[in-house]
Amino acid sequence: MATSQIGLIGLGTMGAALASNIAEKGFPIAVWNRTTQVTRDFHAASGDLADRITPTETLKAFVDAIAEPRAIILMVPAGKPVDDQITALRPLLGANDLIIDAGNANFHDTNRRSAEAGDLPFMGIGVSGGEEGARHGPAIMGGGKRAHWDRVAPVLEAISAKHNGEPCAAWMGEEGAGHFVKAVHNGIEYADMQMIAEVYQIMRDGMGQNSETIASVFDWWNDGVLQSYLIEISGKVAAAKDAETGKPLLDVIVDAAGQKGTGRWTVIEAQQLAAPIPCIEAAVVARNLSSRRDERAVGQDLFGAAPTTMGDTAPSEAELEHALICGKILCYAQGFTMIAAASREFGWDLDLPTIARTWRQGCIIRSRMLDDMATALAESDDRNLMFAPFFTNLIKNSHDALRQVVAKATLHGIAVPALASGLAYFDAMRTARGSADMIQGQRDFFGLHGFERFDGRTGQHGPWAAT
Ligand SMILES: NC(=O)c1ccc[n+]([C@@H]2O[C@H](COP(=O)([O-])OP(=O)(O)OC[C@H]3O[C@@H](n4cnc5c(N)ncnc54)[C@H](OP(=O)(O)O)[C@@H]3O)[C@@H](O)[C@H]2O)c1
Repeated sequence: MATSQIGLIGLGTMGAALASNIAEKGFPIAVWNRTTQVTRDFHAASGDLADRITPTETLKAFVDAIAEPRAIILMVPAGKPVDDQITALRPLLGANDLIIDAGNANFHDTNRRSAEAGDLPFMGIGVSGGEEGARHGPAIMGGGKRAHWDRVAPVLEAISAKHNGEPCAAWMGEEGAGHFVKAVHNGIEYADMQMIAEVYQIMRDGMGQNSETIASVFDWWNDGVLQSYLIEISGKVAAAKDAETGKPLLDVIVDAAGQKGTGRWTVIEAQQLAAPIPCIEAAVVARNLSSRRDERAVGQDLFGAAPTTMGDTAPSEAELEHALICGKILCYAQGFTMIAAASREFGWDLDLPTIARTWRQGCIIRSRMLDDMATALAESDDRNLMFAPFFTNLIKNSHDALRQVVAKATLHGIAVPALASGLAYFDAMRTARGSADMIQGQRDFFGLHGFERFDGRTGQHGPWAAT
């Protein structure tokens, strides 16, 4: 009998957590997994929630268990598995049944799948917050037709994280808009993490601080402007000890960071949109460089280790805090201007304040500052966040610290690419006359591309054009 209000396919880390969350919020749910034993184990381990969960062993039984018009969430790896699953499901579904891809799809794939679906309901939603978020309240970024979002909004809002009682789940826009916003979220996440890691290295190598001290500094910062999930967990990571050796955990973790591609997609898309996101680009580059451990070892043998110890010239912890505050604002300013650029390019009419509000809880980049960003974007969403008075003031109070920290780290051979990119972005954005006059002169010299003069005349050439 079709007793389930919704269905979910893919009981891996995220799917199992999401299904339990849905059941816990009172919605009967049918589940199906490619490997049947996983479904059985999941149901057996569901405790009090088992009554609301219908485990199924065939796709047909799964579909039959869901009340019409059906809504089915896919939580399988992005790419071919999603296409395969849609192909397997469609013949079993009615014309009003809605498929929701809740994995980390590339938004171009979601655009394509939306087009392929035609009139058949399909949505792509971004879900952030990892397993813990999926289980107890993720941030949800919806993409697709508004009417389809409205059909499932009661479930998605109920399971989402809440900020002062407001659900962190919202419809972003048509087609792949939800997955696009999720990708930029992940790009910002990369940059936020990278800047924290850079400051950690300054404390570790430049200032000779041990992990306990570093943990306490992060804990202290988490009570201030920087309050955020990422600062909080950085303190916990720094404080953790390795159970086997008793050493600080950070001293046994290999310094090579992995990635699943969403940061890279953000950077590629930013280039297509001509949207400057240098902090995010630097963070993606830094992850790629981090995995070149052998080459880095060769480099150290060849050139010698950098003289990282800063001694008396070390920045204060307050200076580091302000550098992070400034870098963080600049990074988010870049992310939001990229979203605005995509909104114009794709005709999505994305609502920036809603996006900031959706990110305030549940997701990895949740932070106190996002609340202020939501307020600033609500005042005016077509200006760079740097120019919102609240953030202008914060930047005025912190950009000198960012400069000091970048300069000191650079002088001591500590690579701080994300912070330095933030500083370069800031300097470029506060310089009315830049250096591109030289670029235009060069382009005209070798290619007669022409330039615009300050007196407004366009298509002008230098003296070389006459020869
Ligand atoms: N982990 C996170 O923190 C996180 C956060 C946000 C979004 N996401 C996204 O959520 C999605 C799921 O991630 P996850 O971490 O839950 O993955 P996971 O733990 O590896 O689980 C993958 C699930 O998909 C199923 N699956 C794999 N290949 C399949 C195929 N070809 N056809 C049908 N089912 C298939 C697996 O079934 P079997 O049991 O048969 O292998 C399993 O149930 C991904 O798109 C991921 O990027 C993950």
